[in-house]
Amino acid sequence: MNSQKGRRKRPNLHSQPHQGKWIWACREDATQDLVEDLVRALGPKGEARALEAGLVESKGAPIADGKIDLTFARQGFPCLGVFEHHDLQALEGAIAERVKTAPAFTVQVWAPDSEPGNMRMPLCKRIQERLREALSERGDLPPFVEHPTQGDVELVSVVLREGGEWIWGAQRLAHALSRFPGGRARMRVPGAVSRAARKLEEAFAWLGVAPAAGERCVDLGAAPGGWSELLLRKGAWVVAVDPAKLSPSIQGHPRLVHHMMSAFRYVPDEPPVDWLFCDMAWRPLEVAQLIAKWGRRRWTRFVIANFKLPMRRKLENVYRIRALVEEGGFRYLRSRQLYHDRDEFTLLAIA
Ligand SMILES: C[S@@+](CC[C@H](N)C(=O)[O-])C[C@H]1O[C@@H](n2cnc3c(N)ncnc32)[C@H](O)[C@@H]1O
Repeated sequence: MNSQKGRRKRPNLHSQPHQGKWIWACREDATQDLVEDLVRALGPKGEARALEAGLVESKGAPIADGKIDLTFARQGFPCLGVFEHHDLQALEGAIAERVKTAPAFTVQVWAPDSEPGNMRMPLCKRIQERLREALSERGDLPPFVEHPTQGDVELVSVVLREGGEWIWGAQRLAHALSRFPGGRARMRVPGAVSRAARKLEEAFAWLGVAPAAGERCVDLGAAPGGWSELLLRKGAWVVAVDPAKLSPSIQGHPRLVHHMMSAFRYVPDEPPVDWLFCDMAWRPLEVAQLIAKWGRRRWTRFVIANFKLPMRRKLENVYRIRALVEEGGFRYLRSRQLYHDRDEFTLLAIA
């Protein structure tokens, strides 16, 4: 076999980002996918390029219905400038000037989520603390919010580049892709049956919606039961479909039914249900066709599905999957490679 053929294209590395560009964070191994995602959305005029592994810049951002529509970006902000490593006082002054008219503000200092980037994180944490102390002690600024959840907080992002410079920018939290530094949304689901529960918890945080108590959910590819258990904790009724066994800790739950069968043969008793969840380890295009069938038959209102992307041409497959699901008549689609997603991405579809 030609060894060149199997290899993924290396990101094109450049040095200095420019004021007025957008800076994006992604998984280290999704850098080229994000560049392609931006090229697809913005065309060549978007001048998308990798700055280093896990960090990309572009001219402008693809915004549709007030939302940034990119699958491989975890965080993104408009760049306001670059400061040299030792120029922290100038950075502090620029941030103060920017946030002085905001209702409240926060500062997040991070490095790209790559091996070398993660080595810079202890320094980022120290600088974040220093900026927080200095800016919150000044009497002329609005309140500093440590863990913001409200959309009208000004989110200042400061990224430590591999050359040592600080790239910074700001936006209202409501317009950001994530409220977590660099989009690293570390979720904790204490006592969860499986790690997969973190993906679903992150999806709910990303989307700002989750099943309400009493809603009816179907969970395809449910075993060992991390997602089902999270849904049960929210007070939902759950039909779990998986040929494999569920964890003994949720078996026999009064709001849970388990059908030990293939999701491709399962037909819901009293459609429509409120939510279809799907985390099946199966061929992604076939899973997309199955979800489209649920759409055509009007078996569900909402879908949250995780698709595996073990192949090379990830972006192409994301859009093939989206097109197949759209053919099912879903009118609203969003996709994102979440922090807890590995070689996979999460899709929301609304009927
Ligand atoms: C990643 S695991 C799901 C983890 C689960 N979401 C959790 O939170 O514990 C993937 C599951 O897909 C199931 N699966 C694969 N093919 C399936 C099919 N045709 N129908 C139903 N489940 C299937 C496997 O049995 C496996 O349990």
